[in-house]
Amino acid sequence: MSNVDVLLGEKRTFYPSKEIVENSNVKQWMDAHDIPDIENLYQRSKDIEWFWGEVEKDLLTWYSPYDKVLDRSDAPFYHWFTKGKYNIVHDALDRHIGTPTEHKVAYIFESEQGNVTELTYRDVYNEVNRLANGLKRLGVGKGDRVALYMPMIPALPIAMLACARIGAVHSVVFSGFSSRALHDRIQDSGAKVLITADAFWRKGKVINLKVLADEAVKDSGIEHTICYQWAQYDVPMRKRDIWWHDLVADQPHECETEIMDSEDPLFILYTSGTTGKPKGVVHVHTYSVGLALTLKWVFDLKPGDVWWCSADIGWITGHSYIVYGPLMLGVTSVLYEGAPAHPEPNRLWEMIARHGITVFYTSPTSIRMHMRFGDEWAKKDDMSSLRLLGTVGEPINPEAWMWYYENIGKSRCPIMDTWWQTETGCFVISPLPIMSLKPGSATRPLPGFNAEVHDPEGRFVVNKGGSLVLTSPWPSMLRTLYNESERYAQHYWNKNGDFLTGDIARVDSDGYFWVQGRGDDVLNVSGHRIGNSEIESALVSHSSVSEAAVIGRPDDIKGESIAAFVVLRMGVESGDELRNTLRNHVGEEIGKIARPDIIYFVNDLPKTRSGKIMRRVVRSALISQEVGDISTLANPEAVKEIENVVKHNNYYS
Ligand code: PRX
Repeated sequence: MSNVDVLLGEKRTFYPSKEIVENSNVKQWMDAHDIPDIENLYQRSKDIEWFWGEVEKDLLTWYSPYDKVLDRSDAPFYHWFTKGKYNIVHDALDRHIGTPTEHKVAYIFESEQGNVTELTYRDVYNEVNRLANGLKRLGVGKGDRVALYMPMIPALPIAMLACARIGAVHSVVFSGFSSRALHDRIQDSGAKVLITADAFWRKGKVINLKVLADEAVKDSGIEHTICYQWAQYDVPMRKRDIWWHDLVADQPHECETEIMDSEDPLFILYTSGTTGKPKGVVHVHTYSVGLALTLKWVFDLKPGDVWWCSADIGWITGHSYIVYGPLMLGVTSVLYEGAPAHPEPNRLWEMIARHGITVFYTSPTSIRMHMRFGDEWAKKDDMSSLRLLGTVGEPINPEAWMWYYENIGKSRCPIMDTWWQTETGCFVISPLPIMSLKPGSATRPLPGFNAEVHDPEGRFVVNKGGSLVLTSPWPSMLRTLYNESERYAQHYWNKNGDFLTGDIARVDSDGYFWVQGRGDDVLNVSGHRIGNSEIESALVSHSSVSEAAVIGRPDDIKGESIAAFVVLRMGVESGDELRNTLRNHVGEEIGKIARPDIIYFVNDLPKTRSGKIMRRVVRSALISQEVGDISTLANPEAVKEIENVVKHNNYYS
């Protein structure tokens, strides 16, 4: 236990001011529904059909009404708002046209080099329509998949919305992923069009995205690559390539929105699982209700707010809380191209001051990184515009929580620690700004969501670590895994109908949840999810490697760092050069974020008698924990070797 844990204990709670409570959106809703207090709200919302039916009335607009809030007959393939006709783009853009929001700024965009551009809702609407018409011209239609490999520039949300407008399914691939990772995702989704950009800036360097994209489309099903000219970087254009500006040059500013079924897919987003193959999480158009509700209630967004979610759109956080959620609420968002501490450590704080940000949402890794720079960097800028703060992606340690609270929020702004996943689509366990907070706890499942912590026998436990499960469906849940419906049903749902999150958590006596991390073989590095076996597959795909075990090791800044134990093929010479080669190889196979921080060469890895590598044992040996009973291992001597190598060969690259 750290000093702050001891200092805070579980009793230390932070209460919201009367002003925050009285002015909050959630309080207003409670008053309108004769709900006297928050306990009553939690109770009433246990009736999820009633709750979601009631909240959607304020948040969604339908082409034609649904007949049933929830159809459970095909569980775990739940159907929400059955037979309703809808398109998320209608809520995000169309309905603002002709209202005062039309001329309001939707995005304040800032490039890494510091140029600021403002796009109104009307600007976004026009550009979305032009591209949507361009996509149609290329033969893209309802149900077709379009891959997007783009930097954090306005063209990315525009491209996503253009796909959604015509009923196409977008599959955004994080721009930090390698060509190989992009190629695999293109092939899996069967995308026929790829949208990319020439290049972008990251930490002052130009990243040549189009060159990587070209490599990825080789031997793929891509018929056209649309390239957005952004960094003015000279790129080769082939026959199947087309510049975005040429494609949209003659296209009108109007394009009819495709009328979709509530349950029609909106996007595929690949995320790491416990096997080497990423999972194609499928979300549908009406996932929108969860985003709009949580943004409105948790971050209490109102028309005058300037919202900044500093995540990358390549992950679910950006999809839900940079693109669709804020546009549905008609608020102004900041979109930033570059790195968080470039050119100076106070880049984020300086931007908060300059743009008058009122609500700011970031990751614990980013907070810990800024803590390390020293408090003086957070004192330079006037951040008095802030009224609420948030975090996502990993457990936040109480030290980081307190630093954020005191240095950024100046002890005035409640921190919303939001727990959720790619699969959940929106926040699930999170405070509301009207409730008391305990640093390090994401508090309780939001109204409309139900969660429990179970022991291995499936019994509900309190004050004890166990598996975090969601005990009822929710409308922004994933509907399936792309082309793998069997895997969806088997992987996520137990026989009692609980959704298995893969996380370990504890519930305290007040019903507050403390999420501790993944309980399965998935790493969480700087809030990015990477499967251990994905990295192992990348390592063994190198001709020098025979076997590999990848382990997450606790890290003060990133949450976890990546350690790899590698068995080389006979006759291959180990050494620093090979370490670098293997790190780069993983970078090329997956992306830089997956490169091991440390690589140990060993002669053998601990295995069961059936030959399965025991990661748990490797991990215990790595972090000097009690290894436990190893008598059932086929090769217990491998454990000693790991302990020795770790002790004497503490190599960091
Ligand atoms: O382990 C949990 C952690 O991130 C995982 C989900 O990762 P991903 O699907 O990439 O989505 C990240 C952004 C939503 C979860 O299984 N996680 C996310 N938020 C929190 C968290 N762990 C603790 N506290 C959180 N607030």
